Amino acid sequence: MLLSAFSYIKDKTSYLQEFISDPRSTGTIAPSSRSLCKTMSGGVDWENVRSIAELGAGDGVLTRHLLKRMHADCSLSAFETNLHFYSKLSEIGDERLTVLIDSAENIEPGYDAIFSGLPLLSLPDDTRHHILQRARDALNPGGIFIQFQYTALSESLLSQYFNWTRARVICNIPPALVYRCHSV
Ligand SMILES: C[S@@+](CC[C@H](N)C(=O)[O-])C[C@H]1O[C@@H](n2cnc3c(N)ncnc32)[C@H](O)[C@@H]1O
Repeated sequence: MLLSAFSYIKDKTSYLQEFISDPRSTGTIAPSSRSLCKTMSGGVDWENVRSIAELGAGDGVLTRHLLKRMHADCSLSAFETNLHFYSKLSEIGDERLTVLIDSAENIEPGYDAIFSGLPLLSLPDDTRHHILQRARDALNPGGIFIQFQYTALSESLLSQYFNWTRARVICNIPPALVYRCHSV
């Protein structure tokens, strides 16, 4: 009983622990809310999308949500650089999911939709530019890149690679902005 309570608390505070050890990469103290996941997945044509990627999948809250919405023939590649989160993602065990312990900078072409929870502004400048360039080039024609951020400060950066529209999500810690982006 005490052991399961301890592991429950450890699980729920996993972002906080990772944030304390590496704030710049982790970028948050809590996983995305249901409301943020719904807004992230809202602009996608789920009947026709067959190949998607998630950049910075964290503990897998959005990953699980995407798997629920995905077509049985759709595949999902999740990129994560944090070893603790990589192990948690590997436990999901869905045959449509491939978990990669790799930087989002190494994404290859071939995706209909790319979801990103990467903390763009806290990454080194050359890394964030490289990721956005690679993500744009990895989209199939007509593909969509969906990024959430906690502030509007990355808008000029996003505009260098994409045309975008924005939605606000209040029910999240902290409140977030979701950008739906298409190639310029
Ligand atoms: C704000 S968290 C997002 C977590 C999750 N997607 C969610 O919605 O709750 C950002 C994640 O990006 C990961 N990350 C940071 N830099 C990365 C990189 N270059 N490539 C892949 N993942 C990265 C961090 O380890 C962290 O798990």
